Amino acid sequence: SWTMLNIVEDSVEAVRRQVGDGRAICALSGGVDSAVAAAIVQRAIGERLTCVFVDHGLLRKGEAEQVERDFVAATGVKLRVVDAADRFLKALEGVSDPEDKRKIIGREFIRVFEDEQRAIMADGPVEFLVQGTLYPDVVESGGGTGTANIKSHHNVGGLPEDLQFKLVEPLRALFKDEVRRAGEELGLPSAMVWRQPFPGPGLGIRIVGEVTRDRLALLREADAIAREELSRAGLDRQIWQCPVVLLADVRSVGVQGDGRTYGHPVVLRPVTSEDAMTADWSRVPYETLARISTRITNEVPEVNRVVLDVTSKPPGTIEWE
Ligand code: XMP
Repeated sequence: SWTMLNIVEDSVEAVRRQVGDGRAICALSGGVDSAVAAAIVQRAIGERLTCVFVDHGLLRKGEAEQVERDFVAATGVKLRVVDAADRFLKALEGVSDPEDKRKIIGREFIRVFEDEQRAIMADGPVEFLVQGTLYPDVVESGGGTGTANIKSHHNVGGLPEDLQFKLVEPLRALFKDEVRRAGEELGLPSAMVWRQPFPGPGLGIRIVGEVTRDRLALLREADAIAREELSRAGLDRQIWQCPVVLLADVRSVGVQGDGRTYGHPVVLRPVTSEDAMTADWSRVPYETLARISTRITNEVPEVNRVVLDVTSKPPGTIEWE
């Protein structure tokens, strides 16, 4: 639209003024905020922006490719990809406590990013750090209420406010729906523009129990099936998000073919919400639930039961950890 085009052009111009002939770095998460912020800054300063994508191995099926291939193709952004899955998995070995997992993932992320930062600065100084801060984040950071106190949030855009950088925050005046429209205006891949919320610590906090490579692979398949069937049923815009959670320490007896199975359950957690502060469980049609259940138990070895979470928030949070 005409106004969105103006908003994008104005913020490109504002970034150009702020950064001058300086250089900037930006961490991409796969989410819409960091993607749109990076795309705007790329338009403003081109090659003087370097994006860093830390693949922590905890993303869902297809998400790393979306960043590495589709986003780069759409924007021409200069991107450094760090495949850090081994490092994250090593750090998470033997860890089941949710807060410990969150802290470890956050800490490793910062370490990896700092290594990249040093490598980028070997080519010359970088003064600016791009962040996808939205208007509601600006307002909320004054209050410090809600979920931030309950769980230690790790937001890939939200690196510690490192004082050696000046922040570039092209989305500071925008709401989420405006960011999405800006993303469309900028020609970003629609799977990124319309991605539902996904936590920074990724699938690491959707495996109840220790995070291992095998468990991640299994959860990735189950999650992909759920997302595919919810989309096929036309429910993407009605559902705020639908975590799929693997209860890795739980086993139950089942039967398949002529054989007894002893597998793990996955939990479907479809919710409706306005802002994630409160939520209700989504009344997903039974036929859709049936398709998801049948497909997951048929296609994902090790999963022999699919259960539905019918808890609102409060008292349940959206994520299980
Ligand atoms: P909860 O589980 O607290 O989640 O009800 C509220 C919303 O926040 C998302 N979430 C996160 N997002 N980093 C993020 O960027 C995090 O560490 C994190 N933890 C939860 C969650 O998916 C939901 O949308």
